[in-house]
Amino acid sequence: MLILIDDADPKAIEDTLSFLPVDGVTTNPAILARYGADPLATLKRIKEILPFGSQMHAQLVSTTTEGMLAEAAALRETLGEHIFVKVPVTREGYAAMPLLKQRGFYITATGIHSAMQGFMAAKAGCRYIAPYVNRMDNYGISGVRVAADMHRMLRAQGIQSDVLAASFKNSEQVLELVRDGIGAITAAPDVLAHLVSNPATDMAIHEQNADFAGLVGGPMTWADLVAATGEK
Ligand code: E4P
Repeated sequence: MLILIDDADPKAIEDTLSFLPVDGVTTNPAILARYGADPLATLKRIKEILPFGSQMHAQLVSTTTEGMLAEAAALRETLGEHIFVKVPVTREGYAAMPLLKQRGFYITATGIHSAMQGFMAAKAGCRYIAPYVNRMDNYGISGVRVAADMHRMLRAQGIQSDVLAASFKNSEQVLELVRDGIGAITAAPDVLAHLVSNPATDMAIHEQNADFAGLVGGPMTWADLVAATGEK
C-alpha cells in the first residue's frame, strides 16, 4: 500500500520524509492556498525534495474539459511526465479522463463521495480514485465503508485501478483501510505521525533506558561502553 503526504508545506513534507516510509505527495488547491506561497513554485520545490521515483499529484482547477486538457499539458511540461493530474469527478472531469488517458497522463480522480463515482472514474481510465473518507463521515455516510466497497468493486470487475483514500482526520480511519487491502492512502503529516506515535511506547523505552543507565552508572550507550574498553 502506498502512503502519501497530503500537504504542500515543504518543511512538513521534509520532516515526514525524514522518519516515515512514504511514497509521495498529494496536493489540492485548498492545501496550496493554506501554505500560501506561489503554487507553481511550491510544486517545483516539492518535486525537488521528493526522492526519485516518488509520486506527486496536483489537482486541475479548470471547470471545462478543454481547460483541463490544457492545464494537464502545462503541468506535465513544467513538472515532468510522471506527474499525476487530479481530475474532479464533475461532468467535465469525466469527459476529460479518457482524453487525458489517451494522451498518456496518469490520472487521479478526486472529490469522490460515492462508490459509483469512483467506479465510473476507474472505468474512464483513472489510475487512482480518491474517496474523501472524513468528508463522507461528516455527511453521515461511512467513508471507510465506501472506500472498502470501491476496492472490492475494482477487484471484482478486474479493473487495474486502485483506491487512493483521502481526507482523513484520524489514524483509526487509516487502520481500517489498511486491513481492507486498499492500494493507497494520503493523509496530512500529523495524521501520518499518529500512525506510529504512542505515549506508552515512549514511557516503556524511557524506563528501560533508565534501568540500563542505573546498571552502567550513567546515561551511556553501547558505543560509549565499547570505547571505554579500548576495543575496536
Ligand atoms: C486528497 O488528495 C484530497 O484532496 C484531500 O485529502 C481532501 O481533504 P480534506 O477533506 O481535508 O479537504
